[in-house]
Amino acid sequence: MDPLKWLAKQRQHGNLRSLRPLVRPVMGSPHLAGSQRPLIDCSSNDYLALSSHPLVIATSRQFLEEHGAGSGAARLMSGDLALHHQLEEAIARFKGQEAAVLFGSGYMANTGVIPALMGRHDVIFSDKLNHASIVDGCVLSGARIVRFRHNDMEHLAQLLSEKRGNGQALIVVESLYSMDGDKVPLLQLVQLKEKYNCLLLVDEAHATGIFGATGAGLVEEAGVTDQVDLVMGTFGKALGSYGAYVAASQVWIDFLLNRARSFIYSTSLPPAVIGASLGALQVVAENPDLGHTLLARAAFFKNALASCNLKMESSTQIMPLVVGESDAAVALAAKLGEAGFFVTAVRPPTVPENTARLRFSVTLHQSEDDLASLAKHVAALV
Ligand SMILES: Cc1ncc(COP(=O)(O)O)c(C=O)c1O
Repeated sequence: MDPLKWLAKQRQHGNLRSLRPLVRPVMGSPHLAGSQRPLIDCSSNDYLALSSHPLVIATSRQFLEEHGAGSGAARLMSGDLALHHQLEEAIARFKGQEAAVLFGSGYMANTGVIPALMGRHDVIFSDKLNHASIVDGCVLSGARIVRFRHNDMEHLAQLLSEKRGNGQALIVVESLYSMDGDKVPLLQLVQLKEKYNCLLLVDEAHATGIFGATGAGLVEEAGVTDQVDLVMGTFGKALGSYGAYVAASQVWIDFLLNRARSFIYSTSLPPAVIGASLGALQVVAENPDLGHTLLARAAFFKNALASCNLKMESSTQIMPLVVGESDAAVALAAKLGEAGFFVTAVRPPTVPENTARLRFSVTLHQSEDDLASLAKHVAALV
């Protein structure tokens, strides 16, 4: 592949990506490096603003000072620290599962777990809008991949009846879709999983910390914890830190730590990151209303948009404004940038062709005034 030609083609279609470094002080507003103009970040996944929470920072600092900067090795070498187990036990309890295992990131979790579970004689039923890390995990597994229409349980049922076969089968979904902000119908899904005797893996990357009575996620909210075989999630979004986990029965966890290559062949997470994640879990446990507060703020934004005649389908903190053409989405993001809002235009291949969008995410970093002002600016531009 000729990189120059490839880059030119991306530019021509409005799909060329480039980096935009931000300075994000713990106190105060983010701004672009080289500029002092404060921005309101409307594209962050730090939904509960925990990345700058004093307890999260303090626990992270304490772990850094007591245990050093790095873990020194992969878990199965000498990098298995007691503090990894402390976090695994905490996340397993939080998720209502028997055990958990940590991964370097959500991308590593999905690309490690799916190939560990499934092989070339197996079949995976995967939602068409699943995150790239799930897609890549499915491809790496070598299994047959059957994609069902987004959130369409009738289509899934039809495909299961036609293509389930007699081998191992896995259904993999996100509980809250990262680019559309809609929820998977978990009750219907677990019925299908049981009827067709499949494993079920649910990615709770964007739901963890927000939904459910204790903030454990949409699996908790739907009351289906016992019917979901493996729950995956990340610490890098609402929990404000970094890294990821899979929670499941002890047998599955023992299996994964013997088989998931992205777990086995990679240095374990550093102490400061583990400290931040433990701190974040403590904050969520002590403040079970944080998720409700976030969703109320998201509802406020939705109403503010509605009062400017802009209808949003989403009832969660993720609100996509689908623009269509990539160039148009980039131009709209740039105009909002001039008005002080940092918004990213999400373009193919992250989203399907002709559905380039501004993905607004509501976070507790934003005040209601910020969101009201954002709604007015968006309405004036579209
Ligand atoms: C649904 C979903 N799964 C997994 C990931 C990957 O997580 P991480 O950023 O920790 O690699 C993401 C990240 O955006 C995601 O949206």
